[in-house]
Amino acid sequence: MSGDAVRVGVLRRGTASPSEELRAGLVAKDFSPWPKYFYDERGSALFEEITRQPEYYQTRTELSILRERAGDILRRTGSRELVELGSGSASKTRVLIEAMLSHDGGPVRYVPLDVSESALRASGTRLSKEYPGLEVRGYVGDFHASLGDLLARPASGERLILFLGGTVGNFTPERRRVFLSKLRAGMEAGDHLLLGVDLVKDLDVIEAAYDDAAGVTARFNRNLLHVVNRHLGTDLDPHRFEHRAFYDAEESRVEMWLDARMEQGVWVGEEELVHFEAGEGMRTEISAKFSPHSVEEVLREAGLSLVELYTDGRGYFALALAGVG
Ligand code: SAH
Ligand code: TRP
Repeated sequence: MSGDAVRVGVLRRGTASPSEELRAGLVAKDFSPWPKYFYDERGSALFEEITRQPEYYQTRTELSILRERAGDILRRTGSRELVELGSGSASKTRVLIEAMLSHDGGPVRYVPLDVSESALRASGTRLSKEYPGLEVRGYVGDFHASLGDLLARPASGERLILFLGGTVGNFTPERRRVFLSKLRAGMEAGDHLLLGVDLVKDLDVIEAAYDDAAGVTARFNRNLLHVVNRHLGTDLDPHRFEHRAFYDAEESRVEMWLDARMEQGVWVGEEELVHFEAGEGMRTEISAKFSPHSVEEVLREAGLSLVELYTDGRGYFALALAGVG
């Protein structure tokens, strides 16, 4: 335990090692099954910068919905405990924390889980200093591997489980099904899920959000190559790859790629792991976009029932409140 103001525990990080997964991703030229590798210390900081770009409407829109609806959400759930998956900087969570603290009804507990220990410690420390009435108990872990353990902890009462930022859209459909079913299995009667999803909209609006003019998303995408080099000892040069993002309307998802600017091999010592032709790319991430109907469907498949779908005036983003009933 460090001298931080916040208690941080460690949960399971998954069975495969980072080097196994990253090697598999590199050889297949597809890292999209493992979005967590974007979030090393630099990646987490770059993501925060993405959320402040004018093109990245998601964070601002989700925050505005939360501001407007926090009272309603808490009335419907009655929760005094927030469990947040992939909490990151938790910048939006404070809206719910403040709403909970302003109802007097005993202590409020906040249980964030994130794979990024730096983000978790920084946000946990900040929140517990800012809100003396808040008990913060953070966990470093992988939300696929440790969801069961996290939800099996004794709770102070009915929980509100937050999964914000459209992060569920970064899962492959199969991963998403398994994840939501596991989540459902770990929920008790009276628990609720608040799930943030990005909605289908005009193609230009979506594509600009993943290719901002300041080039922050491009840096975030290329940062994955530093992560790969660190774990595998490879010699990938981020400058030799170009960031590309496009919306696939048929699949309702954005794909992020890194395209080789010139022919090149990727080496570990004497071994060439993989070879790129000029213009050949690797997929690094997907980000699914939902409709009000598809969100309800995805929840129902997992045994969760939609209580309310909160959205903004433009219908850009939605927060789905779901229960186990
Ligand atoms: N909730 C924040 C951050 C979203 S970015 C927001 O809405 O702005 C996604 C977050 O999930 C990052 O903080 C990242 O570190 C975390 N994350 C990604 N994959 C993860 C995994 N497999 N397990 C736990 N956390 C993960
Ligand atoms: N959950 C975020 C989203 O899909 C993550 C994200 C934003 C992202 N920009 C990105 C992931 C760029 C990879 C590359 O909107």
